[in-house]
Order: sequence, then structure tokens, then C-alpha cells
Amino acid sequence: MSAKSLKIVILAAGKGTRMNSPGSEGLPKVMHKLAGLPMINWLIKSAEQLSPAQIIVVTGPDMKDLEAAVQPHTTVIQPERNGTAGAVMAALSALEGFDGNVLILLGDAPLLKPDTMTALIDAAGQSGLSTLGCVMQNPYGYGRLVLDKNGALEKIVEEQDASEAEKTITLVNTGAFCVEGARLSRWLKNINNENAKSEYYLTDLPQVAAKDGVATAVAMTNDPSEVQGCNRRADLSSLEKTLQNRLRFEAQENGATLLDLETVYFHFDTRIGVNVTIEPNVFFGPGVEIGDNVTIKAFCHFEGAKIASGATIGPFARLRPGVELEEDVRIGNFVEVKKSKIGKRSKINHLAYVGDTDMGDDTNFSAGAITVNYDGFQKHQTIIGKGVMVGSNVNLVAPVKIDDGAFIAAGSTITEDVPADSLSVERTKAEVRKGWAATYRKLKQSKKKKSA
Ligand code: UD1
Ligand code: CA
Repeated sequence: MSAKSLKIVILAAGKGTRMNSPGSEGLPKVMHKLAGLPMINWLIKSAEQLSPAQIIVVTGPDMKDLEAAVQPHTTVIQPERNGTAGAVMAALSALEGFDGNVLILLGDAPLLKPDTMTALIDAAGQSGLSTLGCVMQNPYGYGRLVLDKNGALEKIVEEQDASEAEKTITLVNTGAFCVEGARLSRWLKNINNENAKSEYYLTDLPQVAAKDGVATAVAMTNDPSEVQGCNRRADLSSLEKTLQNRLRFEAQENGATLLDLETVYFHFDTRIGVNVTIEPNVFFGPGVEIGDNVTIKAFCHFEGAKIASGATIGPFARLRPGVELEEDVRIGNFVEVKKSKIGKRSKINHLAYVGDTDMGDDTNFSAGAITVNYDGFQKHQTIIGKGVMVGSNVNLVAPVKIDDGAFIAAGSTITEDVPADSLSVERTKAEVRKGWAATYRKLKQSKKKKSA
């Protein structure tokens, strides 16, 4: 690790027009989310691990959301989008007098790992300038590293400016550089915009530095997925894939068993305990916490749910925001729970809806039972005590309170509170007419014969 002090500049002023985001100006490219977190924040998370003296994010004019998302780090505005060198130029005000290393990263290549950043910084140690290369089977769209016959970097050529021969080079420029702070400003001033895009390319640094007798060191990564850039929506989905694979690996490292890892999707803030088993096709939205020894069966969807240890969920369960399951709860197939607390060992095993409910311990909520929590205007609360038996196909019309130990007969629509240990039945009295079916059948059959 280099002993020099470090500042990190992240370029993020691009509008991302190729992303086709709605709105007159569109969502800045780096604000598109990966596993629920803007891509710029993934890069910042990794950059922070290097403990730099400062992280400076270059934004464009009118990108208030981006400025807010990268707090508490420094932001500077690049007034005009005139190229990646122009963007670094805009950061110079924050680098005045700084003679440590400046690590320059692209906000739209957000999955670069801290170790690779460190390797790039170390490479700059000897010469004062380093770039990060990677061999890609399909290098289309990336700048290429052109090496001389001794294997040293001669120049970087952009796709649009490359000759046919240069386009066959598979060693690409990942876009990240490390530059000695003391020389950065002078080198930037020597970059011109005589190229296909009439932009100031940061990739001209090696040629400018060569005039000062400085050779550019090339650090390498052999993992193309960590340097993949994002220019269009299709790139977004392949970045998501890479990131999901990392989150899946992390969950496994932390003690979860994933039966078919490629079908499980995590959110950046998903918390999973130890000895958790997750069957195929499970989706975690924001704010989910899963305790130890939980089993999640196939096809479950979670958002904002906190699940204590020992619970069994699914298959086909949907747990929505504000759900709190205490220890050893069982949620079965085709069950939806929203904004409800479910007490220890309680069971909601089949085809049920529980919303805005406070349920005690050891209660059974049977098949087809639901809380009727919405009157068309407002949501209402259902309170269910401990050890309650709610029969099948029951409607609990909220607001309603069922006290400890009560029984609710199957098929009842409950509109009044039920005291402890009582039975509540709300259905019409059963009527059995003996022999009715046989008479009816005979009548029908004789009519059929007559008409034949
Ligand atoms: C850039 C590199 C290319 C490299 C690729 C890796 C240059 C000239 N090209 O190309 O060699 O292979 O990244 O992904 O550097 N930005 C600004 N201000 C600007 C222009 C861009 O802040 O004026 C920011 C963008 O927000 C983006 C990053 O810089 O985060 C890269 O810009 P982009 O236009 O996507 O560059 P590429 O064409 O992908
Ligand atoms: Ca890019």
C-alpha cells in the first residue's frame, strides 16, 4: 500500500442520454439503482474502504438528487459536459496544493473492488501515472490500450477514433487512473479536444505524460465484471447480475444455504442470519431482516419485513412492509401479511390475508380467513389475542378485537368484539331437508324423458 495520502475523484456529470430515462433532463446515469442502491453509492462504498483524505464527486448542473445521494462527500459541478478530462478539470479546485495520489474513477463503472483500486494506486507509485486494463472478449465501445513492441503503454484510443487494426485489440481501458496530484493540473491543461467527439479525453493523459518523460504503468484486473461500464439499459441488467452474484456469495459466506442461488434476489440492505435456508425464486425488497434458523420456501416476496429466528415462510408467501414475525411463526402458501405483528408460534398456514393486525402467541389463523381492514376510505386495526382459533373462511371486519383463547367458527363474518375464551358464530342456521335431492333428481329425469 502506498504511503502517500490519497484523494479520490469520481466522474458522474454525464446525463446518461443513452439510458432513455423519463423527465426533461432525465435521471443522471449514476443514479440508476443496482440492488436498490444508486450505482454511484456502490462505488463510494468501495472507495471509502481505502480511507482517502477526501472523495470528490463531479456532477453536472441541476443534479440536486445526486448531490444529496453522495453526502457527506464533496461535490463539484462540471459546468459543461465536455469530456472526462474536463470533468477532472472541474475537480481541480478541490485538489489545489494536494501532492498525494489522485485516484480517478468513473461513476458509471461502479463495481470496481477496493483491492483493485489499491493495486492501481500501487502501480502509480513508481512512475506517477497508472491506468487499469482488462482483457475483454467483446471490447466494443471501450477505449483500447495500445502497447508498443516492448509491451509498454503507447496510447489509449477510443472506439470512435480507433483504426480497424486497433479495434481488434481486446485489452481495454477500464477508465480508472491514478495520477500524482502535483502534476495532474499541468497534464490536464495539455489535453486538447481534437478527436471524433470533440471532447477532452482523460484517456489522452498517457501521451501528455510521455512528453514529460513519464511512462504510464498498467495495472490489470482479470475480472471483466468488476470494470464493466454502464451506458445503456442492457448494461444495467448485466451490472445487476454481477452485483446479485456478490450478494448471494456474501449471504452464503455468512451462513445461508441457497438452493438455487441464481433465482434469489437481494436488496442492498437485506440482512440474513445464520443457518437460513432459502429455496428457489425468492425476492427481497428493501428493509428485510431475517433471523437465524429461518426456512424460506420457494416463490416468496419480501419487503420491509422483520422475521425472528425459527420461522418457516412459504411457499408462495408475500410479506409486506411493517410485518414483524416473532420466533417460530409459520406462514404457509398463498398468504399475504401487511403491517402486522404476529406472536410466537402462531400459524397462518394457507390462503389468508392479515393486514393492520396485532396477533398474540400460539394463535391459529385458518385457511381462507382474512382481516377486512379497509372500508373503502380508511384502514382499521384488528387485535387478536393469544391462543385464539380463527376458523376457515372467516372475515374479521376491523376494527375488531378477539380476546385470548376465543374460538371463531368457520365461515363467520365477525363485526363485534369477542371476549376471552368464548365462541363467536355468525352464520345462518343450517337447514337439512331429508330426501330433497332424490325427489329433485327424479323430477328432472322425468322432464328429460318427456322432451326426448
Ligand atoms: C470512457 C473512456 C473509455 C473507457 C470507458 C470505460 C474516455 C474518453 N473514455 O468511455 O476509454 O473504456 O469509459 O467504461 O474517458 N463524465 C463526466 N463528464 C463528462 C463526460 C463524462 O463526468 O464530460 C463521466 C460520466 O458521467 C461517466 C464517466 O465520466 O460516469 C464516463 O463517461 P462516458 O461518456 O460513459 O465514457 P465512455 O464513452 O464510456
Ligand atoms: Ca461509460
